Parts: sequence; C-alpha cells; structure tokens
Amino acid sequence: MATPPDGRRLDPPSSFVEQANVTDESIYEEFERNWPDCWERAAELLEWEEEYEEVLDGSDAPFYEWFRDGKLNASYNCVDRHVEAGRKNHAAIRWEGKLGETHTTTYQDLYRRVNELAATLRELGVDRDDVVTIYLPMIPELPIAMLACARIGAPHSVVFAGFSADALATRMKSADSEYLITCDGYYRRGDAFNQKSKVDNALLDLDASVTTVVVNRLGEALDCVLGDRQYDYRKLIRSQAGATVEPVTRDAEDMLFIMYTSGTTGQPKGVTHSTGGYLAYAAWTTQAVLDVKPEDTYWCSADIGWITGHSYIVYGPLALGTTSVMYEGTPDYPDRSRLWEIVERNAVDVFYTAPTAIRAFMKWGQEYPDQHDLSSLRLLGTVGEPINPRAWKWYYDHIGDEECPIVDTWWQTETGGMMVTTLPGVGTMKPGTAGPPLPGISANVVDTDGNEAEPGESGYLTVDKPWPGMLRTLYRNDERYRSEYWEPFSDPASDEWVYFSGDGARIDDDGYITVLGRVDDVLNVSGHRLGTMEIESAIVGVEGVAEAAVVGGQRGDGETAVYAYVSTEHGYEGDEELRERIVAGVEDTIGPIARPEQVVFTPELPKTRSGKIMRRLLEDIANEEELGDTSALRNPEVVGEIEAVDRER
Ligand code: PRX
Repeated sequence: MATPPDGRRLDPPSSFVEQANVTDESIYEEFERNWPDCWERAAELLEWEEEYEEVLDGSDAPFYEWFRDGKLNASYNCVDRHVEAGRKNHAAIRWEGKLGETHTTTYQDLYRRVNELAATLRELGVDRDDVVTIYLPMIPELPIAMLACARIGAPHSVVFAGFSADALATRMKSADSEYLITCDGYYRRGDAFNQKSKVDNALLDLDASVTTVVVNRLGEALDCVLGDRQYDYRKLIRSQAGATVEPVTRDAEDMLFIMYTSGTTGQPKGVTHSTGGYLAYAAWTTQAVLDVKPEDTYWCSADIGWITGHSYIVYGPLALGTTSVMYEGTPDYPDRSRLWEIVERNAVDVFYTAPTAIRAFMKWGQEYPDQHDLSSLRLLGTVGEPINPRAWKWYYDHIGDEECPIVDTWWQTETGGMMVTTLPGVGTMKPGTAGPPLPGISANVVDTDGNEAEPGESGYLTVDKPWPGMLRTLYRNDERYRSEYWEPFSDPASDEWVYFSGDGARIDDDGYITVLGRVDDVLNVSGHRLGTMEIESAIVGVEGVAEAAVVGGQRGDGETAVYAYVSTEHGYEGDEELRERIVAGVEDTIGPIARPEQVVFTPELPKTRSGKIMRRLLEDIANEEELGDTSALRNPEVVGEIEAVDRER
C-alpha cells in the first residue's frame, strides 16, 4: 500500500484487521449506549476476588469510584493467575541489558521473585498502605519491586532513576515514604554511574529514618558501602528463598501507586492511581489499542520511571500475560541499529515508542533499520508528544514497511492509560492526528467558556465523563486535584464535572483530535514533562541569580529544549561561570533531563503591570516568532534588549 501525502487518510492493512482484537466499528456506539456499564468489559479482563457492586459511583464527584466494593490484587492478576493457567514457562519479561546481556524471566520466575521480595519487605516492616519509593534504572528488579509492593498492598512511588538526589528527597518527603528500593549504580552508555551516592545525599535531607534495600547492579565495578538500615537486596532475598506471600486483598479503590509529575507550580504533583480501575483500564487499552495477545512479544521502549512504562511495560502487558521486552539502554549504544537488532532477535510483534525517538531514527537514516529483518512487526505506536506527519510517514515506511498500522496515542500521567487514538483494527489513520476518543471516552475540544469549539478551531482538550483509569486525587491534596483538573471547565452547581487536561487541541469535521501541546506552564522536552516553575525555582536557588524565566525553545531539529532567561543580582556578572553554576543547579535539583540548553542573561525580565513574568513573550523571542501584544508590559524597553542578547546566542 502506498503512503499518502501528508494529512491524507490511510486504512489499516487487511492482514492486520483480520487478526485484530477489536474490529467492529459498532464498539463506539455500544460503549456510548451502555455507558458506564460498558466498562465491565475492561473489568472482565481481570480476576476479582469479590465482584464489585457498582461500575461507577459518582455521588462524590469529582472523587469518582469505579468498580465499587470489588476486591482484587494487582500482583495476583499480573503473575499468579498466569502460572495457575498453566503458562508458568511463558516469558513474562525479556530483559535486554545495556552491555548486551539478555535475561528472560518466565511467569514462574516472576512469581518466585515477587514472592521472595514481598516476604523480604514484610520482614523489614512494610505494612499495607506504607508507601515504598523505588529508585531503580531499567533492570528486572524494578517491575519485580512494583509487583512485590502491590502484593502486600503497599503503594509504590517510582522515581525516575535519572532524577537528582533533591528530586528523590522531595518525593519521599511528600509521600512520607520510609522505605526505599534502589541500586548501587548502573551503566550509562559504557560507564559505571554511581546511583547510591545520590541516594545517600537524598537521605541526608530526610528527617524520617529510611530503610533502604540496595540492588547490586554493578558488582565489582563500584564499591558500595552500606550504612545504617541499608541492606543488600540479594542477601535479603536469599534468606527468603522459596517464601510465598498470600496476595493482600485490595479494594478496587485502594491506591496502587503514586506517580509524581510536573505541574504549574514548583511542587511536583503526586498523582494517585487505584487498583481496580487503573489495572482494568491499562489491560483494556493494551488489548484494544496495542492489540496485544498473550503469545506476543511486545516492546514499549519507554522508561518504567514514567507512566508509560507503568501502564504499558508492566501492568497492562503483564495483566494480559504477554511477553514484555524491557530495554536498559539507549537507542544509539553501542550503535544506531541497537533497537532494530533487538526487534529482530526477539521477533517483536508490537513496538511502542515516542516521536522524539522516531525523529532521531529519521536523522540517522534508514540504513540502520534496513540492516535488520523487522517483518515480525505487526503494529506500531507512539506517545508523549505530537508526531509530525513526516516522522509518522518515516515510521510507517521504514519500520512498518507499510504493513503496520500506527496508533498515535494521546494520554497523560493523570489519565492512567490511552484516551485519544484510533483503534488499529477499526479506524482510518490520519498522520499527525491522534484520532477520535476511544470508545467510552468523552473527550472534547472546547473554547474558554467550555463550549464545543468549531472544527478546525484551536481550543482546550477536556473530558466530560469519568473513566476507570483516571487519577483519583493528588496525594494528600484533594484541593489541588479539584482546582487544577476540574474547576477550570466544570459547573459544580449543576454537578457537571469536566476534566481539563492542560493541553490545547483541534478537532476535525470527522471528530479526529489533533493535540497541539500544553497550554499551561508545563514543557514537554523529549517526551518528558517538566514544570517551568520547578526549573525556575532551581535556577533562582543559585547564588547570584535574581530572577529566572524558563520557556520551551524550538531547536532547528524540531526538538523542544529548555531555554532560561536570567537576570543577575547586583554585583554578579552574567558570565560563563554563572552559566555553568546555573546548569549544575538545575541538574542537582531536578536532574540532567531538565538541563537548560540556553541561558540568556538579561538586565530585566518582561513583566506585566501586576508583576507577572510574561513567559509567552520570551517564548516568542526564543523562537524568533512575531511578538505578541507587548502593551501590557510594565517595562516594554527590555524586549529590545533581550532580543539583542538573544540574537548573539
Ligand atoms: O501534552 C500532552 C503530551 O504529553 C502530556 C502528558 O505527559 P505525561 O503525563 O508525562 O505522560 C506522557 C505519556 C502518556 C500531554 O498532556 N502528549 C502525550 N501523548 C501525546 C501528547 N501530545 C500529542 N500527541 C500525543 N499522542
């Protein structure tokens, strides 16, 4: 099938449709007619200890409850039941290490390892509802730790391993977490990198005494000294060899995990997800959108430290009993065909990645995928940012060989799972456009007053009915949950609740939604979500900095980068030394992912008369766009000065 020019429609190949999990278009209508009972279809993918009484309880909206009074355990659903079903020798996780090592964990192995760790955690004192922080890179112990926590009813809070000591400490404090599972270090490209020293720094910052379990990933490559209340993972596990732990019965609404994400203030938000609704939704979308079957080898190349990895490396695929590939490394180490070599060797059926990765593959050229047999692939997916039609087409042609549908999936940490995308066995694809809302999902594009936007007009992406995978609240902050997500577009007087995503979008005549990006002070850098205020507060913490404003700069290669505009305190020069300290300050407070690529020193920042920094204006300057209205500025003269400095960049 020939690829159409940009913006045109494309039907999924019939070879795909014939075998797809969902093929009947009537599913949209059926879900609408039967809403909310349609969601029983998701719940049926799980095994419940006790049936739920009600699919949806909206009596305390926007604090919705799904599958009320249902009882289940997520670890049982992702592990035990597959063993019991006679699939114990089936591969659960195929791990591909950074140094070329490979390791397969069968469902039986997973059962044993999850149980032994669950027993260990119990022994260390972890009780149900204690939050366990997990700060691990992409090694098998990471999903094992998540499932072990789920087994004993302890919510986990996974902190991305690339985050700094400060970021770890902030998240542990916010969750009152007194247990930590981490490692000595890991390999970054070929070099050993010390994770434990970051942990020790974070622990210095905490008042609570923390019990830490340390996985030995580096062996001889790093000397790791264990302090007070710090234990070697393997030693602990060895003393629990063969132990089993009865999965703790959890209520559908009990918290499965917290995932911190960036918002519009300096404080990260602890998004909480439930056991029943989240797991059902992750499993359902993995089945319906990613078309995963138990016999597949499925690969999502995200990091488990983000929501994508939670839902689509761990919970969704394992709930369905499939084989989930887990890759520790980067796409270009030891060379640029690494991912394609992994696809070929594992005969991967379904591959899910981010547009930023696709754009990098494109830049490197098709010779790398061309060196490998990718014919095992059946479906491709993307997530994290808008995918431009050119990148879409490249993915379709060179990775999918024009045989694989692509699902461009829009969703967020808060939504728990995919929300807007085509169903690959049903919908026509339109490159660059995510697609219609999934069946049962009532997503809309609205204007500032909450009225539906006209086709083609830009507006705000909202969802006016709840869904099982939705966040339940922000950890210990119901008020912020209500005010950030629900108040902007809801009418509490009439008890009509509308969820606001923070994204701008456009809807076509045929109901397809194109996501335009964040409309709040959140940046999307290489698919990573960063709060401008978080970065700014890291920068103003640097000695000599008076004020800072951070915006997203569009680089020549189409990627977004962090650009910082900084004014100095009296007596300080905006020189190279200060620039370096600013970059180091951000790396220490958040992590290298938030590193400003440009630091522009300016005598003053543009401000409104009420003293608010006009980031939008700086964004225009950074991206050499025509400047918006500057009449509201208190200090319009600084614009010219900033432009002059900026041009010298
Ligand atoms: O701006 C949207 C963008 O990523 C944001 C959510 O980021 P996070 O919570 O970190 O979760 C990322 C993975 C689910 C959204 O608000 N985004 C995500 N998927 C898409 C997207 N933008 C456009 N198209 C997408 N497919």
